[in-house]
Amino acid sequence: MGSIDAPTFTQNGSDATVAADGPPPPVPDSIIMTMEKTLEADSSRKRRFGMLPLEVGTRVMCRWRDGKYHPVKVIERRKMHIGGVNDYEYYVHYTEFNRRLDEWVKLEQLDLESVEAVVDEKVEDKVTSLKMTRHQKRKIDETHVEGHEELDAASLREHEEFTKVKNIATIELGRYEIETWYFSPFPPEYNDSLKLYFCEFCLNFMKRKEQLQRHMRKCDLKHPPGDEIYRSGTLSMFEVDGKKNKVYGQNLCYLAKLFLDHKTLYYDVDLFLFYVLCECDDRGCHMVGYFSKEKHSEESYNLACILTLPPYQRKGYGKFLIAFSYELSKKEGKVGTPERPLSDLGLLSYRGYWTRVLLDILKKHKGNISIKELSDMTAIKAEDILTTLQSLELIQYRKGQHVICADPKVLDRHLKAAGRGGLEVDVSKLIWTPYKEQG
Ligand code: ACO
Ligand code: ZN
Repeated sequence: MGSIDAPTFTQNGSDATVAADGPPPPVPDSIIMTMEKTLEADSSRKRRFGMLPLEVGTRVMCRWRDGKYHPVKVIERRKMHIGGVNDYEYYVHYTEFNRRLDEWVKLEQLDLESVEAVVDEKVEDKVTSLKMTRHQKRKIDETHVEGHEELDAASLREHEEFTKVKNIATIELGRYEIETWYFSPFPPEYNDSLKLYFCEFCLNFMKRKEQLQRHMRKCDLKHPPGDEIYRSGTLSMFEVDGKKNKVYGQNLCYLAKLFLDHKTLYYDVDLFLFYVLCECDDRGCHMVGYFSKEKHSEESYNLACILTLPPYQRKGYGKFLIAFSYELSKKEGKVGTPERPLSDLGLLSYRGYWTRVLLDILKKHKGNISIKELSDMTAIKAEDILTTLQSLELIQYRKGQHVICADPKVLDRHLKAAGRGGLEVDVSKLIWTPYKEQG
């Protein structure tokens, strides 16, 4: 260890003067100051190298892609082939940011002077604090373990431990190469691959480009399997039944999990319908995003997971998918709500959608309107309407009851802040029969 440290130490420092034998000659003050600083730097360096390699759980400042230092927590470490205490890479979580920014960093990105003395013994255990319904537990199956309903806190912790480091770094899908955000439980034979190649139509995935090229020559799909239930301009929506297209459903879940953190994976794809949004051209229908929906939901969920693939994000497709999920609920004559928990981006998108839809109605409406009426008109669940209007401070308690206060100027201000409306769903282009009415 020492011998490997030495060159690095010498390279960075000027310790030769400090280590010189015999009494030092008299020196002017400024030089003494410099020597004191050098001694300080020396001991600091020794201290720093003494702490290497850093323990998992260490909190330290790390240089991010914006060139600035941000606090991180070390989640994992791995030895590089060259060896030595400073030849480790660290997988870090930026504590101010979402887990999708977690990444492997080199030692030189870390400011060792900022290492905090206390090392957390366990990586944050979000799972044990996660309140899960029996229904949610039923659906956890990221580790291919059957009978996972019985997962106790320890197994959940193990599960969190298993998923803490991203496994696949990038994927190729159609004409895009996409950096992934989170761990996804691909079958074990894919464990040694950093990059996966997806067929953009059937979503089969492969380890090598040549395999994909061979596959593309024989794959006869040019759009998702299932029924095209909506077409407007170049946009199409396909309904895929997880029971009829099991492999497609599973592939879609593997793909989606790369961008969804606390959502659980559904191997039980039989129970779901997948609504896949595509941009179509003469080469085929290219997946933009999707949402899944349980065939029967006890909790009135009208959407389980929603994803817009990163190259298509911030273009209004998310709001289109959300609007579409409510249009389906309207056709079913039901109110709906998205499954919880919502991600940060999910919450932003839903808040924006709810605000826009509700305030548009309030602006046009003359006379009194109740939350129940708003819910009937929009298929948005009453609780979501109440929380949205409360967060906008549009609900007041007057004479013993809650009333909606809709001052047009305030409504306009909120509408402006809610951002753009997103891509419109043209309901006249939706040709669809609810699942329970399908033969
Ligand atoms: N930064 C700030 N605001 C954002 C961002 C962002 N990166 N992304 C979305 N928003 C907000 C904005 O208010 C945006 O409206 P604006 O562009 O008019 O300002 C609004 O959300 C939605 O924008 P869209 O373009 O309609 O949505 P997008 O196509 O980007 O899709 C989605 C939103 C689906 C949440 C996407 O970010 C995504 O796939 N994220 C990863 C997966 C995920 O978190 N899904 C939700 C999980 S919860 C659940 O599944 C029930
Ligand atoms: Zn294919």
